[in-house]
Amino acid sequence: MDPNRLKGKNILITGAASGMGAANAESFAEQGANVCIGDLDLGNAQAVADRINAAGNGHAIAVEMNVTRREDNARAVAATVDAFGSINIGMFNAGLNKPRFFMDIDEDNWDMIMDVNTKGMWLGMQETARQMIAQGPMEDHPYKLINVGSIASRKPLVDVTVYCTSKYGCLALTHCGAIGLAEHNITVNGFAPGVVVTPLWEQLDQDLIDIGFKEREGQAYEDIVNNFLQIKRVSYPNDIIGTASFLASHDSDYMTGQMIHIDGGWCIQ
Ligand SMILES: NC(=O)c1ccc[n+]([C@@H]2O[C@H](COP(=O)([O-])OP(=O)(O)OC[C@H]3O[C@@H](n4cnc5c(N)ncnc54)[C@H](O)[C@@H]3O)[C@@H](O)[C@H]2O)c1
Repeated sequence: MDPNRLKGKNILITGAASGMGAANAESFAEQGANVCIGDLDLGNAQAVADRINAAGNGHAIAVEMNVTRREDNARAVAATVDAFGSINIGMFNAGLNKPRFFMDIDEDNWDMIMDVNTKGMWLGMQETARQMIAQGPMEDHPYKLINVGSIASRKPLVDVTVYCTSKYGCLALTHCGAIGLAEHNITVNGFAPGVVVTPLWEQLDQDLIDIGFKEREGQAYEDIVNNFLQIKRVSYPNDIIGTASFLASHDSDYMTGQMIHIDGGWCIQ
């Protein structure tokens, strides 16, 4: 990994105490970036920041935040600027899932998922862009917003209707944000994983048994690999960090409004 690829970049990542967010924070810092780890779970966020600071390339801070609250997003942006002097990149990764069949969805399920995955992304994008606009355009590179979508941003999955709705929303925020923020020299792109082994998926595996969609542990993984993936294995956070780094780096400066699938070929099935 090039230790200078992201040198001088100050990056806020939401939901970075765990899973893909933590892996990307560590990877960005290995490449020279300073990162703000924003999460509901301050203990684990601080542990990720401590690992990064001990590793000794980029620096990290941890901030407790609930992405569903505007003031928390504004506070996380302000903490990034206080610690590192400015913000160049925002990555909106916090997310959750709770499967329900269509007729079993209730308002609590809808509000919980839509609030975190879609409203939380919109608020994070807006508060980060507000600071970028106040900083004024960078000389020769755009500011970057990176949205974490999903295979569920493009495929209707009957057992996770609300999650799909929320992640189609992330795709819309990527498209509309790219258009709405272009005049400020801010690009908006994203990536869309399929199955990544993280705490979110481990919980989902159990929840799918609980609603009667699957019968045994690990069956959801196996069914997806066998029926939908061209690359016949699930993925891990390390499969994701290369594409996320590309989107954070100058190599993607001429891209905006794109969501790249990292899903083993699921989206073409
Ligand atoms: N794991 C997968 O298979 C998969 C596939 C496609 C997309 N995704 C998406 O990737 C992103 C990261 O997922 P992951 O699998 O790494 O999950 P994870 O559960 O390991 O991490 C999610 C993090 O988000 C945090 N979080 C949840 N609600 C929050 C809130 N209101 N405010 C702040 N932080 C909050 C959690 O505390 C946790 O640290 C999510 O947006 C998820 O939808 C995951």
